[in-house]
Amino acid sequence: MVVLGAGPAGLVLGNLLQDSGIDCVLLERAERAHVQTRARAGFLAAHTVRILERHGLDEGLRRRGQAHSTCEFRTEDGRFRLDYSGLGRGERHTVYPQQHLVTDLLTRFLAVGGRVHFATEAVDVLDADTDRPSVTVREADGRPVRLRARYVAGCDGRHGAARRSLPAGSARRQHLDHGVTWLGLLAQAPPSLDAVGYAVHERGFAGHMARTSEITRYYLECERGTPADAWSDERIWDELELRMRATEYGPLHRGPVVERAVVGLESDVLEPLRHGSLFLVGDAAGLISPSAAKGANLAVLEAELLARALIAALHHGDTKGLDAYSARSLAHIWRAQEFSHWMIGLLHGPSGTDGPSLFHNSLRRSRLASLRTSRSRQDWFAEHYVGV
Ligand code: APR
Repeated sequence: MVVLGAGPAGLVLGNLLQDSGIDCVLLERAERAHVQTRARAGFLAAHTVRILERHGLDEGLRRRGQAHSTCEFRTEDGRFRLDYSGLGRGERHTVYPQQHLVTDLLTRFLAVGGRVHFATEAVDVLDADTDRPSVTVREADGRPVRLRARYVAGCDGRHGAARRSLPAGSARRQHLDHGVTWLGLLAQAPPSLDAVGYAVHERGFAGHMARTSEITRYYLECERGTPADAWSDERIWDELELRMRATEYGPLHRGPVVERAVVGLESDVLEPLRHGSLFLVGDAAGLISPSAAKGANLAVLEAELLARALIAALHHGDTKGLDAYSARSLAHIWRAQEFSHWMIGLLHGPSGTDGPSLFHNSLRRSRLASLRTSRSRQDWFAEHYVGV
């Protein structure tokens, strides 16, 4: 079995296959140090934690993950909090930075005999429509090599080789640019509130998400085309405090901004997620906007689905799971897309005061008001916010 990419998707899949005795090699374009330090998502849904627990992959997150179940909305109509552990299915998030999870998964994979080729870029998946597919790779020294396998899993993200290798017309791509851009920031500063903070302001959205006791993620909506380094640290903090209404609700813990990136909110889903012997998983299958932190959770869910199906096929000749993989994953992907899209509408609005902008802003305020006051709306929110 060849797996492209050593992110959450590839590493969960690799561990599950290796545990069941299926020989598995992971090809990863980046160096090991880069994979283990890349700061990305951090909110694990209860379902994700259960999957990791089920397969003995939860040791680190049980020791170091923080249970989290409150979000706070700050708007022109005041502030309110939802403790979603008492709503919907009563579930919580576990805050565990993705680079820690990836490090745990990688360490375990290597410990149980898994093989990872770092600094090895997959270039092409060939013969995917046969039962002897192969992957051409470029090794660190530039040598081209060809690897054969019974199946190939594309866990190599949106711009990886798996997507690129699909023959024209074999998959339908559905793409939506949500028309919103965020400046994604990592600050070397403790969290400023004991909740995820969502601020809706006439100058744009601002978000606060705890990562560790020393590092906090913030988001600032910005103009499309803004270069990542356009804003000084001071301007970033001033803008965050303004939008998060620090004068009313208290100042933020400031610190150096150690990472900044411009994130265009986009969604992108391929259908189907299988082409013969090639399967797409995680970001390679579907990109989701970060508005509801679903990306890594979907990646883990799909990796487990595919692992079970591959184990049934390779050990028992039962290919029903492989046949169903695409439709089952897409059902989860579209539910997550729908909720993330709803969140974008909840947290952003056109800033103009003309007819349509005014109308959309009033809708957004009403949506927030019903989330503040309606128990059934809160239950629905909690179920989808923490679930996948
Ligand atoms: N060959 C080999 N490896 C590749 C190639 C390639 N051609 N292209 C990309 N990769 C590697 C990347 O370096 C990366 O390590 O594939 C890996 C893909 O990992 P992720 O981008 O983390 O994707 P995935 O495992 O699907 O996880 C998805 O995690 O951080 C969240 O929000 C993020 O939604 C994303 C989720």
